[in-house]
Amino acid sequence: MLKLLTIIGARPQIIKAAALSRAIKNNYSDKIHEVIVHTGQHYDENMSQVFFDELDIPHPDYNLNSGSGAHGKQTASMIVGIEDILIKEKPNCIVLYGDTNSTLAGAIAASKIQVPVIHIEAGLRSFNKAMPEEINRIMCDHVSTLLFSPTKSGYDNLLKEGFKENNLPPYTFDNPKIFHCGDVMYDNSLYFSKIAEQKTNILKEYNLENVPFILATIHRNNNTDEPIRLNALFSAINKIAKENKIKIIIPLHPRTAKLLSQNLSAELYNIIQTNEYIKITPPVSFLEMIALEKNSSLVITDSGGVQKEAFFFQKTCIILRSETEWVELVNCGSAKIVDADESKIMKAYSDFSITKKLKYPNLFGDGKAAEFICDAILKYIK
Ligand code: UD1
Ligand code: UDP
Repeated sequence: MLKLLTIIGARPQIIKAAALSRAIKNNYSDKIHEVIVHTGQHYDENMSQVFFDELDIPHPDYNLNSGSGAHGKQTASMIVGIEDILIKEKPNCIVLYGDTNSTLAGAIAASKIQVPVIHIEAGLRSFNKAMPEEINRIMCDHVSTLLFSPTKSGYDNLLKEGFKENNLPPYTFDNPKIFHCGDVMYDNSLYFSKIAEQKTNILKEYNLENVPFILATIHRNNNTDEPIRLNALFSAINKIAKENKIKIIIPLHPRTAKLLSQNLSAELYNIIQTNEYIKITPPVSFLEMIALEKNSSLVITDSGGVQKEAFFFQKTCIILRSETEWVELVNCGSAKIVDADESKIMKAYSDFSITKKLKYPNLFGDGKAAEFICDAILKYIK
């Protein structure tokens, strides 16, 4: 039996991990034993527990309760906790998702004591090291043994950074193996798509049934923490809603919720609260999010995951960043990068309003990325 230790911590990692846990439970329970460690990076009920309940993820075996804090303090406390668990559990490998501080902590703790690192969502690059996530993903990739990239461009990024395509096993962090394998998030969106429609009533709750609406999310630190950017984003959202008489629902990340009154001008803050077309809500569950994505007319976001899910459900997307790791979406024409620039956001909205039907090619695999990953782990990790 192979023992695999999974690190989760932030909302998107809990969701991504659901795909592998489901594959293990359904197809590999006699070959793989999964131990789940929650770093506690996200801890509010609606940022963590709701996903375990809804997506049938096993209860974590450990919770480090690291919580929020400055990058160094938060990451250091996770490293200490993960190292202890690795020494106790002696897993065959550690599985890390994405690019958060929980990912980085797992990569440092495991590689220093030579536990093979499996990185899911490897190779993604924004080429902007001012993003904390860019540092986390580069550092994680370069101590990994098996690297699974969801996209061709991610795979190519790894080749450009010196990873080899045809190296032979045994694979180690000095001789790593890279794969282009599809996206576990796509696995989840396919799997939960129908269930979301059946099990949620969020559209009814917010009077969004059979009416056009926009779904928006904002949480990137440069958008929330820089008042000029946050004001530009909400000013554009306010104008789009008002001028087009279209509802905009914004499930707000706690980071943004906490900074809204502080970083928006008092005038804009008041306007947003009183605009009848804008509905700000607490974070919603994953199934509710899928229901919103599937039924929206358009998505406005700075989230990595939400950009992709917009594509999975064939929605156009306005990206509130200066670049994206998911370049395929922009190349297909279904997503536009606008940064925190009010006039570019307004223009992207009006351009998409007159865009004819777009093509959404299959770029993210066949919905079985998790099974591919399990097979590769069983083949190459001893
Ligand atoms: C983190 C990730 C980011 C990811 C995002 C997903 C890093 C560096 N960033 O950003 O890549 O896109 O998660 O959502 O790892 N907070 C709460 N309750 C919670 C969690 C957070 O109130 O349950 C608030 C706290 O004020 C905290 C702030 O949100 O200080 C930021 O949380 P943190 O985990 O540090 O980073 P995120 O912005 O969530
Ligand atoms: N998500 C959710 N509820 C919300 C907002 C997002 O379930 O209120 C899900 C979303 O569907 C996606 C993931 O969280 O699967 C994206 O996480 P987030 O935007 O926090 O982080 P990122 O992907 O940018 O790292």
